[in-house]
Amino acid sequence: MSALIELDGITKILKGQQEPRTILSGVDLQVHEGHSMAIVGRSGSGKSTLLSILGLFDRPDEGRYLLAGQDITRLPERKAAKLRSSHFGFVFQRFFLLKHLTAAQNVSMALVNGQGWLPRRDRRARVLEALDRVGIAHLAKNRPARMSGGEQQRVAIARALVRNPRILLADEPTGALDTETGTAVIEALLGATTRGCALVLVTHDRDHAARMDRTLDLVDGVLTARVPS
Ligand SMILES: Nc1ncnc2c1ncn2[C@@H]1O[C@H](COP(=O)(O)OP(=O)(O)OP(=O)(O)O)[C@@H](O)[C@H]1O
Ligand SMILES: [Mg+2]
Repeated sequence: MSALIELDGITKILKGQQEPRTILSGVDLQVHEGHSMAIVGRSGSGKSTLLSILGLFDRPDEGRYLLAGQDITRLPERKAAKLRSSHFGFVFQRFFLLKHLTAAQNVSMALVNGQGWLPRRDRRARVLEALDRVGIAHLAKNRPARMSGGEQQRVAIARALVRNPRILLADEPTGALDTETGTAVIEALLGATTRGCALVLVTHDRDHAARMDRTLDLVDGVLTARVPS
């Protein structure tokens, strides 16, 4: 099966006021449809930088990025922004929900902003389906202040899924949650893979990493497969 994403020799160098510093070094990575992957590594090892490159927020200094077989390494920002909204869903440690809107309205924002015009009824159906996929359709009318952290994060996941992304990128989505709540969030993320969405999860939690199809370890910008222990 050909990969949805293929990174070859990705290198990222930070050039600030000080000496240039290599953040990612020769990273090779393949992301497959419907597969899940954990990226682990200590703080500062480059995990978020790698996700930013995968999600087209940042560009590598060296190497090649293929998306569905197309070389998009040097894509202009306007086209990258289009791909971001058509192909990717993002989930972060913070939920970034709008607090004066209900769960359904928060999810609906992703359709208003990205998907062109959809009739109101279709939009509503898609929003409820997305909330249902993460097990919180019954909270559609609640505002964030009346939801637990885990529920709020599941709203954020529904918001990422409502456009049917092909790749879901999650950067420590359980970082602000206790273990039990975190597990429900991981279930919600894994649920997306049953429909062919690929999942790349950055996590510090070994148990959550173990739930993924494979785990890769980032050590000082070098990515290696972790042998299951
Ligand atoms: N915009 C920036 N300016 C300066 N340094 C940066 C910038 N972005 C990242 N870095 C540095 O690059 C390195 C990798 O950062 P990155 O955020 O990718 O690490 P991480 O593995 O996600 O860490 P954490 O687990 O703490 O989130 C760090 O040393 C960080 O200080
Ligand atoms: Mg990080």
